[in-house]
Amino acid sequence: MDIEFVAAGAALSPNTAVGRVVYEGAGLDGVLGAAAAASRFTGAKGQTLDVLAPAGLDAARLVLVGAGKAEAVDALTLEHAAASAYAAVKASGLTALRLELPNAGPELAARAALGVRLASYRFDKYRTKEPAEKKPSVVKAEIVVGDVTQALKAFEPLAALADAVAFTRDLVSEPPNVLYPAEFARRVKALESLGLEVEILGEPEMMKLGMGSLLGVGQGSIRESQLAILKWNGAADKTAQPIAFVGKGVCFDTGGISLKPAENMEDMKWDMGGAGAVAGLMHVLAGRKAKVNAVGILGLVENMPDGNAQRPGDVVTSMSGQTIEIINTDAEGRLVLADAIWYCQDRFKPKFMVDLATLTGAIIIALGNDLAGCYANNDELADNLVAASNTEGEPLWRMPLPAQYDKNIDSMIADMKNTGGRPGGSITAAMFIQRFVNGVPWAHLDIASTAWKKPSTIPTSPDGATGYGVRLLNRMVAEKYEG
Ligand code: BES
Ligand code: MN
Ligand code: ZN
Repeated sequence: MDIEFVAAGAALSPNTAVGRVVYEGAGLDGVLGAAAAASRFTGAKGQTLDVLAPAGLDAARLVLVGAGKAEAVDALTLEHAAASAYAAVKASGLTALRLELPNAGPELAARAALGVRLASYRFDKYRTKEPAEKKPSVVKAEIVVGDVTQALKAFEPLAALADAVAFTRDLVSEPPNVLYPAEFARRVKALESLGLEVEILGEPEMMKLGMGSLLGVGQGSIRESQLAILKWNGAADKTAQPIAFVGKGVCFDTGGISLKPAENMEDMKWDMGGAGAVAGLMHVLAGRKAKVNAVGILGLVENMPDGNAQRPGDVVTSMSGQTIEIINTDAEGRLVLADAIWYCQDRFKPKFMVDLATLTGAIIIALGNDLAGCYANNDELADNLVAASNTEGEPLWRMPLPAQYDKNIDSMIADMKNTGGRPGGSITAAMFIQRFVNGVPWAHLDIASTAWKKPSTIPTSPDGATGYGVRLLNRMVAEKYEG
């Protein structure tokens, strides 16, 4: 999608649809007033009204998009309005969309551009026969703004963000025969072109480090497990203590010997969404040259059942030295994170760690499909995450870590077991991870509920991979940890 910022009154080419943001109670007259009256369009948030060949107007097609009360408008509302305008005309046969945003300055115009960029994401590399008339035709957005130079400047970091979100969505959308751990590692290694430093550890290296917990998950797969370590040193002091992000990257989760049912198992290609989000975050930090030192660690494995697979009843020794009795091989994400998190704090001594994981079905039961769960041992970190999540439209809800539940993961024969039963399943999963945090300020985001959406309810996110987490972490870093 080409983005241009143009001055009001710039010549309109014939293949252009116009999207106009309308505030509630703004009063439409003429053809538009009549069209609004005939369709209950009031300018309320989320409404759209598609007017074809409007008499007396230049545009071939005009989409009115409601943005609610003018005095209550915020950047996210405009972003979503822009995305809705795009969705209304994207396959119309017209090739461009001009967006008119009354009273919007350069910052808001840039956010509208971001909305269109994110909404126009498509994963179509494996389609070979799509009929031309079904393909999106709109390839350019012109956003009307008073100060074009300022808008371009404001859009620069947002363009980096849109690229990063697309990178994450691509990783999450790739089929599991294509994106296995080594291929995921290759794709993040390629981010060195952005200025990141990337190290990849294979099984022999992890064996030496004693990562029996992570390695146990991958041992039933013919694909080699990998640990990817991404570093961005953008702070003035390159040796300053980094912030750290850790992602669950289960490239496919069959459940292992505790095999999942067949129905919807294909969704488990998305079980690397946490690692995908961390990779996307590192992409945007490098892309916009963030003034911060950050580390991203991805635990990349495939959870398969075979003759060498881990069994329920096995006991593994993690890098921390703590032993784990495997009760259910399908509770594998926490086993991957246990070693990745221990390694992270041991090697980097970070200011804080945030892990992201499609960890439990239980978080979907607890919070539904719009909210991710946030567990934290530190209030400031949790508050910063939740605040950023609201600004970016990636909602997050704080969940408890009640000490009395910790005994639910005590084992009869080892230091702990890898499941705490169904009650509070997302909580006991978080408490398992907490045992590997070693006192560092830490937050765990259970994004099983938000890493993908079928169907999507967010205008900036087409059905499928959302890229959830990239925006909220990028915002938190930009507002709280740079400079
Ligand atoms: N990857 C799944 C969690 C998941 C489930 C994500 C559904 C998205 C949608 C995870 O590895 C898993 O299987 N968790 C089990 C844990 C249980 C065995 C304790 C679960 O949630 O059922
Ligand atoms: Mn599982
Ligand atoms: Zn999983």
